[in-house]
Amino acid sequence: MVQAEPETAACMALRDELLGPLRKQTLSTEKLCEVGRLFCGAPERMSLYGVAAPHMEAGGVRVRGRTAVECTIDEYAGEAADAVALYAGNLREGSESDPLVVDLFCGSGNLGHHLGRRLGRRVHASELDPQVYETARDNLSRVGSGVEVEHTDYRHLIARLGARTENDVYVVEPPWGDAVGAVGLDLTRTTPPVADILADILRARAGKSCVVVTKTTTETVCDSLRNAFRGAAHLCSFAPSAPGAGVEFHIFRLGATDQP
Ligand SMILES: C[S@@+](CC[C@H](N)C(=O)[O-])C[C@H]1O[C@@H](n2cnc3c(N)ncnc32)[C@H](O)[C@@H]1O
Repeated sequence: MVQAEPETAACMALRDELLGPLRKQTLSTEKLCEVGRLFCGAPERMSLYGVAAPHMEAGGVRVRGRTAVECTIDEYAGEAADAVALYAGNLREGSESDPLVVDLFCGSGNLGHHLGRRLGRRVHASELDPQVYETARDNLSRVGSGVEVEHTDYRHLIARLGARTENDVYVVEPPWGDAVGAVGLDLTRTTPPVADILADILRARAGKSCVVVTKTTTETVCDSLRNAFRGAAHLCSFAPSAPGAGVEFHIFRLGATDQP
């Protein structure tokens, strides 16, 4: 998630707290509502899996500090899922091609959750942080999500899954860490850099084409988005309709397609 603009001192202090002392802590209702108020403009807008901040604790949905900063809230995830459905061809379960949907950096799993629901498909997801994994697994199971998260590095997951169809979809949303600054996000400095992740995907697929969706801040540094996706076909970019979201989603077709 990215804070509503302009970023205030209170937003910065909260983010530092969530990524520092509260990084691994499960947040209280009060803290979740503060996240909603400061980052999104209202407590209810901090919402994951259709559960808004004021109801998360009572509903058994847990969010740790780091995930409160890194997650994609319902509003944005829903719009991203609609865009993927529009641009990524026929992905319905039971369709002849039966494409894979893979969320490489699960976090809360909320982006994968919305994508799976919108496309009517099971989603494979990987999460490396043991605490984030455990929380995501419990939350996703509690809300009856079609996301199956594994505690593993994304490279292992994509290597095992291999390629199925040219409409396979990969969600690529690595941690930003220090890659985001006053002038925007530098995709060469995410962990790992986005270009490396795309190379890993193509390697795991032996070059077979696929669809990739990623999220950035509104500004990216030094053409780092274009450079990371050099050689890929740009399908669409959009900002969520809510004003001041501060993020954009981008959908690309990676690799050469067999289609004439
Ligand atoms: C930006 S967050 C993803 C947010 C997610 N899309 C959401 O909606 O909540 C990135 C996540 O990737 C995880 N991660 C980092 N390196 C990883 C790796 N090599 N393999 C799998 N997960 C990784 C981090 O622990 C973190 O939870």
